[in-house]
Amino acid sequence: MIIESAEEQDIGRIKEIYRSAFPENEHELVATLACKLLVEETEPEILSLIAKTNDTIMGHVAFSPVRIENNQNCKAYILAPLAVDSGYQKQIIGSSLIKQGLEILTDDGIHLVFVYGDPEFYGRFGFRTDTASEFNAPYDLEYPFGWQATVLKEWTQKNTPAAVSCVSSLSNPDLW
Ligand SMILES: CC(C)(COP(=O)(O)OP(=O)(O)OC[C@H]1O[C@@H](n2cnc3c(N)ncnc32)[C@H](O)[C@@H]1OP(=O)(O)O)[C@@H](O)C(=O)NCCC(=O)NCCS
Repeated sequence: MIIESAEEQDIGRIKEIYRSAFPENEHELVATLACKLLVEETEPEILSLIAKTNDTIMGHVAFSPVRIENNQNCKAYILAPLAVDSGYQKQIIGSSLIKQGLEILTDDGIHLVFVYGDPEFYGRFGFRTDTASEFNAPYDLEYPFGWQATVLKEWTQKNTPAAVSCVSSLSNPDLW
């Protein structure tokens, strides 16, 4: 398996992966998010990774930059979305995509990475609800216990709780 940057030409296959991995009532929303993040231009850049074997893309993850209110010193990202095609799950593909993404962000000097998801799964990768509790998510959360963060590099946090704002593709309350 190799993990590499996703390209615009992968959009069709990435949509299929989200349609297979998520329930019918959610998959269109999340597939659309994955595709929008692939083309949205931000500074710093969005990281969009695919896992593939023999030219078959099996999983996808995106990490996009977030801004922390009143703290330009903290460079932060959010992991969203993530999916592995239902035919390839439980083969460490999702874990590898997360680990590779966190490694790249660590090398880039990023301090903090958020995620909104199941703590039982993301806890394996160092994400904690108490780390995120100093930060307010961009929208009201349907599942507040899913708001987590992991520290990659220490920094000085002032004025907590601080508001977090996200890129345009994620600026949709239905996603939260
Ligand atoms: C979640 C997901 C990306 C994991 O990818 P994967 O390649 O199957 O995962 P891995 O093989 O790396 O890890 C599998 C382990 O994670 C566990 N796991 C998967 N989803 C989980 C969840 N929601 N909560 C807790 N554990 C979970 C599996 O039980 C398995 O545990 P084990 O190692 O003890 O057997 C994949 O199952 C998926 O696409 N699910 C549907 C979409 C989704 O939920 N995306 C995340 C949104 S927050």
